[in-house]
Amino acid sequence: MSSKTYTVAVVGATGAVGEAMLSILAERKFPVGTLHALASERSAGEKVAFGSQKLVVQDLATFDPAGVDIALFSAGGSVSKEYAPRFAAAGAVVIDNSSAFRYDDDVPLVVAEVNPEQVANRPRGIIANPNCSTMQMLVALAPIHRAAGIERINVATYQSVSGAGRTAMEELGRQTAAMLNFQPHEPAKFPVQIAFNLIPQIDEFMDNGYTREEMKLVWETRKILGDDAIQVNPTAVRVPVFFGHSEAVHLETRRKLTAGEARELLEAAPGVEVVDEREPGGYPTPVTHAAGADPVYVGRIREDLSHPRGLDLWIVADNIRKGAALNAVQVAELVVKARS
Ligand code: A2P
Repeated sequence: MSSKTYTVAVVGATGAVGEAMLSILAERKFPVGTLHALASERSAGEKVAFGSQKLVVQDLATFDPAGVDIALFSAGGSVSKEYAPRFAAAGAVVIDNSSAFRYDDDVPLVVAEVNPEQVANRPRGIIANPNCSTMQMLVALAPIHRAAGIERINVATYQSVSGAGRTAMEELGRQTAAMLNFQPHEPAKFPVQIAFNLIPQIDEFMDNGYTREEMKLVWETRKILGDDAIQVNPTAVRVPVFFGHSEAVHLETRRKLTAGEARELLEAAPGVEVVDEREPGGYPTPVTHAAGADPVYVGRIREDLSHPRGLDLWIVADNIRKGAALNAVQVAELVVKARS
């Protein structure tokens, strides 16, 4: 076994995803030699946890990327656009969690369990991490697509506030406490109140009436599965849950797949755990299963009453872990494996 270690940079190390990247690198014993925790000038000098160590946060703007082997970026699209090419030019492989490069033809978009071979195809030295809602959906749907061909996906998402970052989690906490204490509260991060409410808008509106978050599900599904014929019809909803996205997915396959066949495929699928007991509590929820856990959980597997080749699934995963940080680290592991 190779004992080579790597110099790793985490950009956005003080954020919700960055913090999870650091803990997952430590948990999975990624072969780190040196780890640089980077964020904005605002938090330079603060400390973040990496396993039992404390790392001093450095200012990205003044950091020299020379010598970095792998850089995990999760500090927003504009930071990635400016700094990811600089890290790549200095020799790092960049794994970028923002949407800055996801739709570029020369940047692979990789779900570790679905299209790991694409990791090698990175002429710009940049690999993109998919959006959290696409990520968990495709871990579950890829084996079904391979077996029966998916023609159409209708999906409604129920997305937790952690997907919008640390300030969004603070807003849900603050608003909830204020309301329970009959105190005034104003929305800031979200367009309307999120506590005890839900919001059918994530990201900005597009000309076609869908939101950008919804269109990410369309664009990314086609790119990752390598099939532009797949039709995707999404509605993305923000819900007052801290961690874990859920999705009600209604599929139409080319060849009929029974619920039993789908269950068997899912039970054998990497990264998937089936929880489908058809009794109270016998299904996955963000709180009982997903939060803090690695698998993509699938339940409520059933044949669609209204369509001869329709299948319904309920898919739940931790959006910060599998939806972002865990997949980025898995991709880094694939990069390292190919080098050893
Ligand atoms: P900082 O804490 O210094 O603002 P989240 O999505 O959870 O809000 O986290 C966003 C992450 O991106 C944080 O670590 C934040 O650092 C970082 N970030 C935001 N803007 C910049 C920037 N201009 N340069 C470097 N890091 C940034």
